[in-house]
Amino acid sequence: MESDRIIIFDTTLRDGEQSLAASLGVKEKIRIARALERLRVDVIEAGFPVSSPGEFESVKAIAGEIKESRICGLSRALRGDIEVCADALKPAGDFRIHTFISTSDVHIHEKLRKDWSDVLEMAVDAVKFARRFTDDVEFSCEDAGRTPLEHLFQIVEAAIKAGAATVNIPDTVGYTLPSEFGEIIRAVFNNVPNIDKAVISVHCHDDLGLSVANSISAVQQGAGQVECTINGLGERAGNCSLEEVVMILHTRSDILGKKTGLNIREISRTSRLVSQICNVPVQPNKAIVGSNAFAHSAGIHQDGVLKNRQTYEIMTPESIGLTENSFNLTSRSGRHVIKHRLELLGYEESEYDLDEIYNDFLSLADQKGRVYDYDLESLVIPGSMGEAASYHLSYLNVSSGAGTIASATVALGQDGETCREAATGNGPVEAVFNAIDRITGRTLKVEDYRITAKTVGRSALGQVDIVVAYNGRSFHGASISEDIMEASARAYINVVNNIETADMVESMRKTAAVQSHAYE
Ligand code: KIV
Ligand code: ZN
Repeated sequence: MESDRIIIFDTTLRDGEQSLAASLGVKEKIRIARALERLRVDVIEAGFPVSSPGEFESVKAIAGEIKESRICGLSRALRGDIEVCADALKPAGDFRIHTFISTSDVHIHEKLRKDWSDVLEMAVDAVKFARRFTDDVEFSCEDAGRTPLEHLFQIVEAAIKAGAATVNIPDTVGYTLPSEFGEIIRAVFNNVPNIDKAVISVHCHDDLGLSVANSISAVQQGAGQVECTINGLGERAGNCSLEEVVMILHTRSDILGKKTGLNIREISRTSRLVSQICNVPVQPNKAIVGSNAFAHSAGIHQDGVLKNRQTYEIMTPESIGLTENSFNLTSRSGRHVIKHRLELLGYEESEYDLDEIYNDFLSLADQKGRVYDYDLESLVIPGSMGEAASYHLSYLNVSSGAGTIASATVALGQDGETCREAATGNGPVEAVFNAIDRITGRTLKVEDYRITAKTVGRSALGQVDIVVAYNGRSFHGASISEDIMEASARAYINVVNNIETADMVESMRKTAAVQSHAYE
């Protein structure tokens, strides 16, 4: 492998998975492993086979399924663990065994209740034993960040001599500072005589929010492998986030001079998949993969990006697989952005008075917070709002509970008539939406559904916000009530009415275009 190439070792399925509230099934783990393979990570740590029969089966299934990435399994520095690990990995053909033991004084004395010579001996024996099953053995010094340097040099040298091709230096408790961690790696390179025979890896935890900075600092001192997880999942505060470390290497190759073999266009999709399968939402302002990471809100920023994206974007959303950057239309958005958005919606400048629209937009944004496309259109075609025949809720009954199928009966009024339908669903909310779909004849794809408590205590009001994708656009509906089922129904009806209005606006525009053509 070229000297400037950093090996990306993903441990989402091991360190990440062990931190989840509920462990994943084999199918879910295979879906994640396939996504990591598409992303072209070099090594996938699939699990800790000796920890449970389920874990063993998952590692075995992944080892049989994944062809492009090297599959790795974790084992303590114990022969029994290593044997089980090798057995689970066998379907892969070539595989990596990762064996570890604690090396810090506090871990050795308080956790293992052993002394340094026992640890050294166990480490050497584990590496030699693992080499009976594969040439690709990785050894980790758990809690290396707090290990006396003399001990670290000694065990790294011994592990390499015993046959480890990779030696990992973890900051297990996320304690070190970037400069300090970089110094540890530098010292290892300068004090271990056989260091050129192995790849030095790092595995940093995020307890002080420094895992990515520490990993980059280690790379600057010669580390050749970074261990990380998608969305930074992992023990406690998590691990070094794959997307951040990879995009730093990519974006700042001018300074770092390193590259990875990853297909970075898969980053966004992989992050969404892991978040969904693991049921761990990504915070909106998370670097690289947060929903706001490429969304510009300030008017000055939006204006700059429209003139030249480089004004506020150091990497493009397309590079990580997002189709476009987004502008949140709020009271901070300027005229340029409104004009640009209307252009994208197909409106020519001659169809509206920008000053007038902009004033109306600001009043609406003050009331609503975020302004969506259909809101903007209703301003361009005055009088359009409310002209579509609106639905309103006149009856709702929902039944759900453990061991029952959720069902809902809904009656909607429109144009003086009432229509009633019943439906079932995977849960009460879906049952309500299905019943409304039956009445309106539209099956809508809900992209986002959120409930937020708007007041405090047991009787807090719940606001439901729904975003639906329809004809390539996003439609938003919201409602607030003490009863979240009622709020869900009303928010969904609100979306339906917004879509009806937009459809009506569209047909008015088409008619107007035909008429003006006829006069030409
Ligand atoms: O954090 C850690 O030290 C680990 C090891 C098992 C590598 O996860
Ligand atoms: Zn870890």
